[in-house]
Amino acid sequence: MSPDDSPATRRLERMEDLVALCARRGFVFAASEVYGGINGFWDYGPLGVELKQNVKARWWQSVVRERDDVEGLDSAIVAHPRTWEASGHVEHFSDPMVDCRVCKKRFRADQLAEAGPCSAREGSCEHDFTEARNFNLMLETRIGASEEAASLAYLRPETCQSIFTDMKRVREAARQKIPFGIAQIGKAFRNEINPRNFTFRSREFEQAELEFFVHPSEREKWFAYWLEQRLAWHRGLGIPDECLRVRAHESWELAHYAKTAADVECRFPFGWHEIEGIHDRGDWDLGRHSEFSGKDLGVTDPETREHFVPMVIETSVGIDRTCLALLATAYREEPVGGGESRTVLRLHPAVAPIKVALLPLSKKLAEPVRTLERELRRHWNVFYDDSGNIGRRYRRQDEVGTPLCVTYDFESGGDGKVTLRDRDSMAQERVALEALVPILRERLESAG
Ligand code: GAP
Repeated sequence: MSPDDSPATRRLERMEDLVALCARRGFVFAASEVYGGINGFWDYGPLGVELKQNVKARWWQSVVRERDDVEGLDSAIVAHPRTWEASGHVEHFSDPMVDCRVCKKRFRADQLAEAGPCSAREGSCEHDFTEARNFNLMLETRIGASEEAASLAYLRPETCQSIFTDMKRVREAARQKIPFGIAQIGKAFRNEINPRNFTFRSREFEQAELEFFVHPSEREKWFAYWLEQRLAWHRGLGIPDECLRVRAHESWELAHYAKTAADVECRFPFGWHEIEGIHDRGDWDLGRHSEFSGKDLGVTDPETREHFVPMVIETSVGIDRTCLALLATAYREEPVGGGESRTVLRLHPAVAPIKVALLPLSKKLAEPVRTLERELRRHWNVFYDDSGNIGRRYRRQDEVGTPLCVTYDFESGGDGKVTLRDRDSMAQERVALEALVPILRERLESAG
């Protein structure tokens, strides 16, 4: 199902087109929409949640299930507040920001060129900015019953810190030796000053993180290994090569914990941007948590008896950003003849929310198709649609990226055959109902 674009095919140029499609078809829309939305928060509807689940399942399969050297974890979102002192987030996790004294809006000091005019000032549209101040990006919450006794805590700004604090427990319980990793998928929260570009920069988002613990002598080797693995994973999801690249960090842009870092970037309509970070975090995290907790988080090699603090190679991918990259790079508008055009999401079958649409040519044929639907639901997320003309029904499925449609017509009852229609080529063929499941499996699963 590789895209074969004709010169008349248009790729996504304006994010507004994708935002509108996502809202209209129930992929993603503003959270709390009836109250006017809440900036930086998004809800995933029926199709969006399927897309997201598929991406997470692919990650879990490749990073955890297919390996014997990675264990899974699902830790609490709220950690002991000392965690964030040890991790450096209380001290370092901030952006310089300025306020406009007149319109009261807040901007990142390094993005003032994009601030736009001041809407509240008379006789001028220039802002009246304060000095830049550091603004911590962690979202605070209070824990405990009474206001006075309640203590300050944070919603985690990254999922990995509990992996470090749980490392000893997980390693011993799973009887793992270095090198090994711990992986987790979960929500993270950042009080971003300027959430923007749809879900790209949000205040609540999901990360899939792997912390891989290695001997200090092997850190370069494992960094290179994981960078290659992760790039291959994005390719395998169907993000085309020309929209993917790796960018190594310059020393001045390294996060406070990182010794070496590289980003996997995707080309969006708004430019090349990070979807995943691969970091050599050294012994920063385990060293700091040992120091702050007073517990030794080092390990002893059972053969050499060497005691050392493992180095950490981290891979950290944003699930929301990956979904956005998949949607943005799959989007096409293309002519279909007769002056008509269609919008199609050329999603890889593995991530497509609906795998097969079942379309009886007439409502009178509902019964046998409902029976088929029940059978196919045991294998895939399928969708039944008997309303509107068949061309319009195909278009509706193209627009949400359904790879295959099965049409049951007035002949099907007699000859035991249905029409199988391919999303990308729009080719149609008659196939035997009896052979439908293996044929669908071959088409949906052969793409890797
Ligand atoms: N533990 C390392 C870490 O959190 P990061 O580069 O800050 O590193 C990793 O974040 C990934 O999380 C990013 O590549 C991105 O995909 C996702 N991410 C970070 N901030 C985000 C935000 N505000 N909105 C959506 N995704 C975000």
